[in-house]
Amino acid sequence: MRNLRLRITGMGLLPSLLQSRLAVLMVGILSGATLAGSGVPPSAVITDPAVRVTPAPPTINTAEPTDAPGLLNVVAYGPEFWSGSAPIGDAGFTTLQSWGVKTVLSVDGAAPDTKRANAVGIRYVHLPIGYDGFDDARKLQLVRAVRDLPRPIYIHCHHGKHRSAGAAATIAASLGWLTTDAALARMKISGTAPNYTGLYACAASASILSAATIDQASTEFPSVTRPNGVVEAMLAIDESNDRLAAIERAGWKTPADHADVVPVAEAAALADHLRILAEAPQTAARPQSFRDLLAKSHAIAQRIEDALDTVPIADRARLSADLQALQSTCKDCHARERNERRSARLANPSQSPMQQPHGTP
Ligand code: HEC
Repeated sequence: MRNLRLRITGMGLLPSLLQSRLAVLMVGILSGATLAGSGVPPSAVITDPAVRVTPAPPTINTAEPTDAPGLLNVVAYGPEFWSGSAPIGDAGFTTLQSWGVKTVLSVDGAAPDTKRANAVGIRYVHLPIGYDGFDDARKLQLVRAVRDLPRPIYIHCHHGKHRSAGAAATIAASLGWLTTDAALARMKISGTAPNYTGLYACAASASILSAATIDQASTEFPSVTRPNGVVEAMLAIDESNDRLAAIERAGWKTPADHADVVPVAEAAALADHLRILAEAPQTAARPQSFRDLLAKSHAIAQRIEDALDTVPIADRARLSADLQALQSTCKDCHARERNERRSARLANPSQSPMQQPHGTP
């Protein structure tokens, strides 16, 4: 509430029309009004621990995504089977616990918060997938996890809009919990953008699997799949960067000679690699300037992803400017890295000259 009061007293600076709009908005917030139709209190209320309101979990008939303390964009894909954002802090895991969740299944690339999950008796299973879909082996493993592990099950990626929705729809159709059409309709409720064609294709091609088929999947359900190191991340970033350059040359569309390339998925993958690298423990040990560059690079990639998320593409010139800005962060960081290694070598001449930096952008 302190912030709110500060904002109210600061209103003298605002034009009066805006003031009255803000006042209406704040009355809404203060009275705990619900967001249009969703039955969900506004976040200003639910993030205040004193007035914590946890909505009931959504059902298969809920037509809007549900936000709850520490969980965003939650959509049901079956009885006791929900897809949504990565749990945010203690609040997210407390909500999962209050919904009785026994298993959390992450399809995100980032290492799961197993500590918080274990503290509330929830098992984590980590089976990452890409923005362009997943192969049959991964599909069977996801289906088996949801068939065999204790329910309720909460499946998440980062925002809970694209990957977890695509996986949840595929799983639900494979287990016969939803028809393929109903599963695809649920993805639209989750907000999966139509240009995630690989994810939609996985769900569209899903149909009921026999028990014997599902039994072929591995029963190894790791709680953490090791995220890639810097080198693997950079190689993936480099590939996405090359494909984005080809997409740009094609007028920010799928290039004619690469029919399988999905522009938004490429930008999302690039942004994801940068985010996961930024959150990795080895990055925390790097100098602030390195982390700042990584954050800047991620923010630009995220902007490109957001712009490509809408059809038709609104502002190609802006996208091209962003891609150029992104590529300058590659060059800046690599130059920094090179200089640092050079000064380290000078300070320690016994170091092998083989440890030359790479010659990439
Ligand atoms: C914040 C720093 C940072 C940013 C931003 C960055 N990189 Fe890197 N990159 C590194 C570091 C550090 C290495 C060296 C990794 C190692 O050898 O341990 C590297 C290595 C690489 C490599 C060589 C991998 C190998 O085979 O050893 C490629 C390719 C690469 N980066 C591409 C890119 C591209 C493309 C971008 C921009 C879209 C980018 N990087 C942005 C820090 C960065």
